[in-house]
Amino acid sequence: MGTNVFTADADRNLVFINKNAKETLKAVAGEIRKSFNVDANNLQGMSIHSVHGDPDRIEKILLDPANLPHNAQVELGDQTLDLMVRPSRRRPALG
Ligand code: HEM
Repeated sequence: MGTNVFTADADRNLVFINKNAKETLKAVAGEIRKSFNVDANNLQGMSIHSVHGDPDRIEKILLDPANLPHNAQVELGDQTLDLMVRPSRRRPALG
């Protein structure tokens, strides 16, 4: 199992999704469609909050630098994903 990498810009738009993450997204596409009515294969360019049930709750975590890095486990359908959120000052590569 590899690592899923999602990179978001300062506006919370997903600007990079690595190959492994794209495979993972395929596996949870049905659930993402059902929960968020979003096409998991089309997430690049979309807001991270298009796949968050409660964006305000997520923003509260992200907006306080003291919270980062942040680790959690999130449930998506019958899958449990390990989430590691870390800030980046690099300009993300478009991919
Ligand atoms: C860089 C991109 C992303 C960031 C920074 C981010 C950040 C977060 C944070 C901070 C949480 C809260 C964790 C906790 O409860 O402690 C969260 C929850 C969650 N994230 Fe993300 N996320 C990102 C991308 C994604 C993507 C691409 C998906 C779906 C494939 C996703 C699905 C979820 C789900 C299902 C939860 C838990 C349920 C919810 O609150 O909606 N996230 N995310």
